[in-house]
Amino acid sequence: MEEKNKHSKLEAYWMGYTANQHFKAHPRLLEKAKGMYYWTPEGRQILDATAGLWCVNAGHNREKIVAAVQQQVATLDYAPAFQMGHPKAFELAEKLIAITPEDLNHVFFTNSGSESVDTSLKIALAYHQITGEGRRTRLIGRERAYHGVNFGGMSVGGISVNRKLFPNLLAQVDHLPHTHDLARNQFSLGQPVYGVEKADQLEQLLLLHDPSTVAAVIIEPVAGSTGVLVPPINYLQRIREICDQYGVLLIFDEVITGFGRLGEPFAANYFGVTPDIMVTAKGLTNGSVPMGAVFVRDKIYNAFYQDDATAINIYHGYTYSAHPLACAAALATLETYHDENLLHRAAELADYWQEGLHSLVNSPYVIDIRNLGLVGAIELEPKKNKPTERAFKAYLDAFEQGVLIRTTGDIIALSPPLIVSRSEIEHIISMLKQVLSKLK
Ligand SMILES: Cc1ncc(COP(=O)(O)O)c(C=O)c1O
Repeated sequence: MEEKNKHSKLEAYWMGYTANQHFKAHPRLLEKAKGMYYWTPEGRQILDATAGLWCVNAGHNREKIVAAVQQQVATLDYAPAFQMGHPKAFELAEKLIAITPEDLNHVFFTNSGSESVDTSLKIALAYHQITGEGRRTRLIGRERAYHGVNFGGMSVGGISVNRKLFPNLLAQVDHLPHTHDLARNQFSLGQPVYGVEKADQLEQLLLLHDPSTVAAVIIEPVAGSTGVLVPPINYLQRIREICDQYGVLLIFDEVITGFGRLGEPFAANYFGVTPDIMVTAKGLTNGSVPMGAVFVRDKIYNAFYQDDATAINIYHGYTYSAHPLACAAALATLETYHDENLLHRAAELADYWQEGLHSLVNSPYVIDIRNLGLVGAIELEPKKNKPTERAFKAYLDAFEQGVLIRTTGDIIALSPPLIVSRSEIEHIISMLKQVLSKLK
């Protein structure tokens, strides 16, 4: 058969969240990976300062995970996810709930963060329907939030470019203000001191809409994709109190904070605030096989109990929920985390990481530096009339210098794998110093 040759070979793949024209003129390809590093097809070694996309927490191509997936695909490639199970799904669920806080004792499997978010919103709505509070149909998100790309997550999300071309968002959604406050919290070390009062606006929103019509509030404990916004001291505690006062479910979107990013298994542990529903993905399988997991408290799972044992409990699920390859990958990932104490390693490195990042305070155009656990952000002053250009230049230069960073708007975001060494942290910081010094 004659091969179609309509355009350059790179054009067939429409890449998401990518400047396609620029990329296809100047492609950046990664061909293999191991530990803290990627390699390009030309053999250039790239230090991964972003854990892929906040997901490769144990570093790349870990042998245990590779072997588990290989063995699984050769043993049981797929099992139907409805009215049928396979042993590893139940084993994984047990192992996961052993590390979740309090009574987040039940887990619903998905294939991504976006699916986990939409699953959590559906569970929250359905929970109120079946517990006699069917008036609770409103959802509250937050400005600058990222909750993935599906309709629910997009609607409660608060990043305008992600929303503006998609007019059919969910109705009955409102948003809390974001917590970014450069004037008062610039160059905070860890959690900012000012801003707990922004949580009180939740109460105002609830009163505005009538609290008995609100189903749930969804919050990223540390907002990631918008450029790392660390919650002010006591902010999450206050949100929890208000939710309890008004019978509103609290959902934590822990897609990036889950699995050790802050030095505890989950941000819920770190902040000492337990949500009613906890959304995860990414680090669950170390990025090796797509998978998400939504944890719910006992009262939510129990509410779906049916008197008729043959009745279906929830009309929701994915063909690939608890996919055998994902379960094998997640079990091996958890073992790797436990063997190497990785769910707590960020706590050991947090001070060193903070010191390194904040040493960039006097670099050109740096207007803020933020950090918590092994998360960091450097906010740059945007170029006049050309927002994002300065950070994108830094991103391209860093890649040339052999370090993968991430930029969002004019913010450089960093989240290295939790196996990062002190000398690798030093290397990331000194490379950034060089890159920043060249910015115009
Ligand atoms: C907080 C948060 N929620 C949801 C998502 C969506 O996850 P996915 O891209 O796996 O759908 C992301 C992705 O970065 C995220 O950071």
